[in-house]
Amino acid sequence: MIIKVLGSAAGGGFPQWNCNCRNCADVRRGVGGLVPRTQSSLAVSADGLSWMLVDASPDLRQQIAATPELDPQTDGRSRASPITAVVLTSADVDHVAGLLSLRESQPFSIHADPRVLSALAASSIFGVLGGCVRRLPIPRNEVFEPEGCAGLGIEAFAVPGKVALYLEDEGAGPGLGTALGDVIGLKVIDGLSGRFACYVPGCAAVDGGLLRQLAGAAAVLFDGTLYRDDEMIAQGLSQKTGRRMGHISMSGVDGSVAALAGLDAGRRIFTHVNNSNPALREGSPEREWVEAAGWEIAHDGMEVVIR
Ligand code: MLT
Ligand code: MN
Ligand code: ZN
Repeated sequence: MIIKVLGSAAGGGFPQWNCNCRNCADVRRGVGGLVPRTQSSLAVSADGLSWMLVDASPDLRQQIAATPELDPQTDGRSRASPITAVVLTSADVDHVAGLLSLRESQPFSIHADPRVLSALAASSIFGVLGGCVRRLPIPRNEVFEPEGCAGLGIEAFAVPGKVALYLEDEGAGPGLGTALGDVIGLKVIDGLSGRFACYVPGCAAVDGGLLRQLAGAAAVLFDGTLYRDDEMIAQGLSQKTGRRMGHISMSGVDGSVAALAGLDAGRRIFTHVNNSNPALREGSPEREWVEAAGWEIAHDGMEVVIR
């Protein structure tokens, strides 16, 4: 099974179109140690021929163009994509907007939690996909094969998180209307070996249930949005903490590095990294700290092969 990181940035990408934070300004100027990143998604294949996307980022058109494996097949058909399925981990804009780039009468299947399918159904713009795109509810805690992707298995599990920004209900109390299934993590399983990777691009907290899901993974690709819970406030970018956005931070006693320190897993990779995160910068103390703890920072085009 091959996992290609199509995009490794959080919502907004890196640099973000309107952002003058230190990282965004420096990457625009070509300062060393920083590379641009598109918004988070994966492409996964067992045979290198048919591909599943995990999340459809607003940068999907650019990501497909940068990935020759996702070019149309040259078998004589006038329209032919090797992408047969898209599995969604939430209804966040940075995970679903790319579906709009997959219009053009190409059959494929969207696999998502019923909560996320409801959000798509409520936005009539996704009707542009038409009847050739099937929308299939993901069973929770049960392995299924994504459409057209023989040799791959997916198992979804609920993750502590927050409902998509545009669906927040301020009147619904501290959870803002979040319900089970709004944010899921995935076990992505190589059918031949049974070995698996876990993909959790959004996570508010690490609890015992999540630790059990991640245990034994050959690779964990995990929410690396912020380094510090208050970093966007400290940099004058936003009034929100990571906690308020539904994202655990890397550092701190209750951060992800500490929470996952004892986990039995292979590679540990942070993805969905926000442009404000100082660990994006190679050689920074924050980058050195996460790397010393055994973590990698994903970059666009990164490959994780599991056999
Ligand atoms: C998030 O990960 O918190 C979302 O992508 C925020 C957003 O919709 O911009
Ligand atoms: Mn996001
Ligand atoms: Zn920025």
